[in-house]
Amino acid sequence: MTVISDVAVELMQARRARVAEKRRLSCDTVDLRLELCEGGLNGLEAGAHVDVHLPGGLVRQYSVWDWSPAGDCVNIAVKYEASGRGGSQAVHALEQGNLVYVGGPRNNFRLDDRPVHKILIAGGIGATPIVPMARRLVERGAAFQLYYVVRSGAHAAMDAAFRALHLPATYQLHCTDADGRFDIMRIMASAPAGSDVYACGPDSMLKAILENEKLLRGGKVHLERFAVSSEAEQSVSQAFEIELASSGAVFRVGEDQTVLEVLRQNGMQVSAGCTEGLCGSCIVDVVSGDIDHRDSVLSEEEQAANEFMCTCVSRARSKKLVLRL
Ligand code: FES
Repeated sequence: MTVISDVAVELMQARRARVAEKRRLSCDTVDLRLELCEGGLNGLEAGAHVDVHLPGGLVRQYSVWDWSPAGDCVNIAVKYEASGRGGSQAVHALEQGNLVYVGGPRNNFRLDDRPVHKILIAGGIGATPIVPMARRLVERGAAFQLYYVVRSGAHAAMDAAFRALHLPATYQLHCTDADGRFDIMRIMASAPAGSDVYACGPDSMLKAILENEKLLRGGKVHLERFAVSSEAEQSVSQAFEIELASSGAVFRVGEDQTVLEVLRQNGMQVSAGCTEGLCGSCIVDVVSGDIDHRDSVLSEEEQAANEFMCTCVSRARSKKLVLRL
């Protein structure tokens, strides 16, 4: 019998794409324009990301910051991380004409249509989902403020993309080497009451924004993480059981295992991408049990609903979780 791995199944569902253009955006970031070989992607919208299947079996998620109207060309900007897990190095090694596979898109960072004032805050490479959000708000003629925080002008990979939108005067590029500390509290406190914040950037920045949500006086914070939060990394893990609702089969999830690993070891085909709780591709429905959410994808409301979980990182507070599988 030929066993097809889940990674192979995901790859079969992905679309072949050619690197049509590679260009340097800043001292550490390149932009790739990926041209799909057959057809276009449906569902591209501000905040969406794609899975990129790279040489060496790596699969990484990247926000799409620009795309063609037919969805047959998408742009991803990737910062080189010398101490990363290898995805950025594989992307930077790609050359024009190379082939990759593209899956998705998915969107865990949607821009809502409510006519409330919005504050967009982009930290470093976290600017990639913020560019199409700013574009969308410009198209709508909506009032918003935009802050792009980088270490220096040499690191401002997406500044040209922001400026190309002919943004109102409310766009500010903040270089910490020249401008000093970025004062998030002042910005949130001085925004119109009820403003929403959309932010993507380093964990420390997102943590500060979340901690100060009350300064928005009724507004909400929407975040996208590209790294695991420090709290999630420090969480202690205990063993528990999972039960499959369809068959009643019960499996033990050891303290050093994930639900995703146990499901796959027992023949279940569950999709996965980042395996770090960042992309949402491994979500399954939960019938009963108390979930210990450790992802950075689900909103507070979604986590409180206790109805689904990211199997790659989240665990159980109860002795057992029954999964709708
Ligand atoms: S695989 Fe990305 S959230 Fe689980």
